[in-house]
Amino acid sequence: MEEPIAILRDHFLPDDPPSVATDQIMTPDMRNRCLAIFQSKISFLVVDRTSGQPIAARFMRVNRRVETTAADMFTDPSLKMLVGLIDIIDEKANIFERFQVDEAIQFFGMCVRRDKRRRGIGTELVEFYIQFVKNLGIRPICIRGEPTSKFSIRNYEKSGLRHLVTVDYAGYQKDVCPVMKTVPGEDVCCVYAAKYE
Ligand SMILES: CC(C)(COP(=O)(O)OP(=O)(O)OC[C@H]1O[C@@H](n2cnc3c(N)ncnc32)[C@H](O)[C@@H]1OP(=O)(O)O)[C@@H](O)C(=O)NCCC(=O)NCCS
Repeated sequence: MEEPIAILRDHFLPDDPPSVATDQIMTPDMRNRCLAIFQSKISFLVVDRTSGQPIAARFMRVNRRVETTAADMFTDPSLKMLVGLIDIIDEKANIFERFQVDEAIQFFGMCVRRDKRRRGIGTELVEFYIQFVKNLGIRPICIRGEPTSKFSIRNYEKSGLRHLVTVDYAGYQKDVCPVMKTVPGEDVCCVYAAKYE
């Protein structure tokens, strides 16, 4: 479990826009949240065939109607902030009612090692994993993705998943103050989803 934790720590949290905006680091709470995501056993680590070095990761989980993840479950204030945002997104997307399902495959985050970026690996990964889930042969199957960067939004636009929700980070406020820092050029998170019968 240490390799996926390390790639998340070093190549996802320092660059993923909402993680940057809420100062995420690999705290014990964040580590536990990551391990809980890995428990769905559908996340992937992409490893260089020659060196054996992990070069990218796609984190996915089964998101269930019955689950209760709430910001209050965490003590780390930064993670509370991020999960608070995810709670708002979940409520607006209302996936289970909208698609009349009890489970959805949720694309939770993706990263490419900093020194391997801008070679098309990220674009390939977005397409590959949507196709991978569709090819599992489970029907009906619902896929949801929450693109948190302009790069991911562009890719989801082409993916065949439907845009459901856009959440403006500036609108995420507590006591009339924005909760998140601003990240230049990155100010929204969206939800895209589809159900395949
Ligand atoms: C977002 C991320 C996964 C993209 O991975 P990547 O492998 O660099 O993605 P690609 O190479 O497919 O595309 C990235 C850019 O390189 C460009 N590009 C692709 N192939 C290229 C090539 N051969 N030469 C030059 N540029 C290229 C793409 O057009 C794209 O342009 P953009 O900068 O305007 O978006 C990566 O930057 C990352 O891990 N970021 C941190 C975590 C994160 O933000 N994840 C997304 C939210 S979940």
